[in-house]
Parts: sequence; C-alpha cells; structure tokens
Amino acid sequence: MNKIDKKFVEDYVFNAQHNLEVPKMGGTDWRFTERIAPAFYDILDITKAENILEIGFNVGGSALMFLSIKPDLAYFSVDINRSEKSIDFLAEMFLGFYFTQADSKELVVREGQEGIYDLVFIDGDHTPEGVTADINVALKYKPAYILFDDVRHPSHSYIEKIITEDYADKLEVVKMYEFNDLWEGYSMALCKVKNNNT
Ligand SMILES: C[S@@+](CC[C@H](N)C(=O)[O-])C[C@H]1O[C@@H](n2cnc3c(N)ncnc32)[C@H](O)[C@@H]1O
Repeated sequence: MNKIDKKFVEDYVFNAQHNLEVPKMGGTDWRFTERIAPAFYDILDITKAENILEIGFNVGGSALMFLSIKPDLAYFSVDINRSEKSIDFLAEMFLGFYFTQADSKELVVREGQEGIYDLVFIDGDHTPEGVTADINVALKYKPAYILFDDVRHPSHSYIEKIITEDYADKLEVVKMYEFNDLWEGYSMALCKVKNNNT
C-alpha cells in the first residue's frame, strides 16, 4: 500500500481538484486529505480488502482515496447519478475501477456472488429506509466488513442506532473514525459481519 506522506497528499489534492467533477453535495473533501487519508489507510490495513463495493460514488472522492492508497484494488462503485469526468478519470488511472449507474435498491445478488466483496462501503441513500435497504443488499454479498459513512452526523444519527441495535446480531463495530473538528458529524464506522461463513 502507498504511504500517506507529503507526496501522497499533494497528488490526491491535485487529482481531486483537477480530475474529479466538482461535487454538488458533500462527499470526501480534498481539503482534509492529510487528516482523513490515514483513516482510509487504516481501513484497508484492518480489512485487507482486495474487492470493494461502494454504494454512493458521488464524484468519486472516496474511490480516489481508496485506489490511491491501494492501486491494485478491484473497486466497484454504484450511484443513481453519473459523474462522467470522475468515472472517465478513475477508469483510465486504475485498471480495477468499475462504475455502474443504478439505484442500489435494485441491486440483485445472484447465486455465486456471495463473498465477491471483502468490504461494502455504504454511503448512498442516507434515509433510515435507504440505509436499511443497503445493509440488506450488502449482507447478501456476505462481505467480511461493512463500512458506514455519516454514522454520527446530526442529520443521520439514527444510522448508528440501526447498526448497533437493529443489526446487533449481524454487525459488530470494530472501529469508529470521527472528525468533528473538521466538520460536525463527520464519522465512519467499520463493522465486521458476524457469522460470515464465506
Ligand atoms: C454522500 S454522497 C457519496 C459520497 C462518496 N462516497 C464520497 O465519499 O465521496 C451520496 C451519494 O449517494 C447517491 N445515492 C443516493 N441514493 C442512492 C441510491 N438509491 N442508489 C445509489 N446511489 C444513491 C447520491 O447520488 C450521492 O452521489
């Protein structure tokens, strides 16, 4: 994996500013690269993930982060919208980047697809129904880990409750990442999927 040093930060900021589309809403923010990149590194280190499914690509801020740290990842992003400039750039730069325009609620998990992702990153529809639907789809893939964004964001604080109460028998929070000093509620939860037999 690539080290998070000065050059990494400079390259990420350059690519995010020049090669990704300008986001219309939220998403991983290049201004905080130096602080948040180590969390993404830590997630890859803990999970040893090689195949990632991301629900909610936006303009690709987190896709660029994960792939910049581990360029040989197979990284599958899904979003209901399309950010052409970002998709073209990431597909050109990383052999293992794939994008599908779809509503995550319509993802169909076929027989034999269990275990194809080590990590599912849920950062799409942030409503309680949306998050629940995405967890249900994610669990069908039987990943080892699920990563959630915005778990302690004031507007979405129910996400933590969904994980720790509604899915207590299926998910165990192994690490929380919080950056309240960067912006209120910026938080991610890395969960291990319990009783995963793949
Ligand atoms: C917060 S942004 C994702 C940010 C991105 N992961 C990052 O860190 O840069 C949420 C994204 O989820 C997408 N989204 C919302 N509902 C969705 C759905 N039902 N299926 C797929 N994508 C959805 C939105 O279009 C938006 O781009």
